[in-house]
Amino acid sequence: MTVAVTPRTWPSGHLFDLAGAARGQIEGLLDLAVEMREARAARRHASMLEAEIVALAFFEASTRTRISFELAGRALGATVVDLDVAGSSVAKGESLVDTLRTLERMGTTTLVLRHQEPGAPQLAARATGMRIVNAGDGAHAHPTQALSDALTLREAIGPLDGRVVAIVGDVVHSRVARSNIHCLTGLGARVRVGGPPEWVAGFDGWPAVEVTTTLEATLRGADAVMALRAQLERGAELPEDRLAWRLDSDRMRLAAPGAPILHPGPTNEGVELTAELASAPGSLIGRQVANGVPIRMAVLARLAGMA
Ligand code: CP
Repeated sequence: MTVAVTPRTWPSGHLFDLAGAARGQIEGLLDLAVEMREARAARRHASMLEAEIVALAFFEASTRTRISFELAGRALGATVVDLDVAGSSVAKGESLVDTLRTLERMGTTTLVLRHQEPGAPQLAARATGMRIVNAGDGAHAHPTQALSDALTLREAIGPLDGRVVAIVGDVVHSRVARSNIHCLTGLGARVRVGGPPEWVAGFDGWPAVEVTTTLEATLRGADAVMALRAQLERGAELPEDRLAWRLDSDRMRLAAPGAPILHPGPTNEGVELTAELASAPGSLIGRQVANGVPIRMAVLARLAGMA
C-alpha cells in the first residue's frame, strides 16, 4: 500500500511561484491551511514561529495580502515588522538589495516581498539568506492569492478534477491569473480565460487552458467564474466594449447552475462585475479574503519547516 506523505518543506525554501509545483505540494499547503484555520480559532500554535522575524516589504499598494501576512505571522507567534517603503531609506535612494540586506542584518528570517518588477523575489533570494515569499511581482506571480482562491473553490465545489474555471477580464496583466492557472490546472481543473483579444493574448498553448474572446463562450457551462479588474497600474486600458464583459447575475446564468463568482480583489464594482453580483449568495469573494490568513499561516510555517 502506498501512503501519501505530506512534505514538511517547500522544495526551494522560498515561495516564488506555483509553476511546476507538484500537486501533492499544493494540496499539502491547502490541507495545512485548513488545520491552521482551526488552530487560529483555538489559539493553538501561538508560539510556533516565536523564533522567527517576518518582514513585510511592500513596494506596491496592498490591503489583503499585507494585512493577512501580518495576522498570519502574529497568530503563529512571529515578530512581524512592516517596512513603510515611502517612509524608509528607499526614499533617499537606497537600492532594493541594500534595503533587504538591512532587514536581514537585523535578524529577519522570512521576507514577504511585493514588488513591481517580475523576478524581484528571486533577486532577493540571491542577494540575501532570508526565506522569500513572493507577495506579487509585476504581472508574473502571486502564489498565495492563488492558494487562497484554490482553497476557497475546493471548499465550495469540491475536488477540482475536470472542473472548468472561467477567468474573465484583464488576464494578460494579471499575476493572479497566471498563478491561478498554474494552481488550478495543477489540481486537475481546466481553465478558460476570456476577454477582449488584447486581454487574453499569449495564453494559447498553455496546458489545460482554453482562450475565448466572447463572454458567452467564456461562461458557457463553467463550474466557477473568476472576475479580474483591469490592471491600470501595469498599462492596461479599459476596452471600449468593457460593459460587454461586465459580469452580472443574468450573465452568470450562462455558467453551470450554482456556479460561484470569485474575485481576488480589489474589486471595482460596476466595472468588472456588478455590486449586486459581488454580494450575491453565490459570491465567494469574502471567503477568498478570509482564507488568505490561514493560507499565509501555512506558507510561513511550511517554509520554516515547522509544519
Ligand atoms: N488580491 C490582492 O493581492 O489584493 P491586495 O492588493 O489588496 O493585497
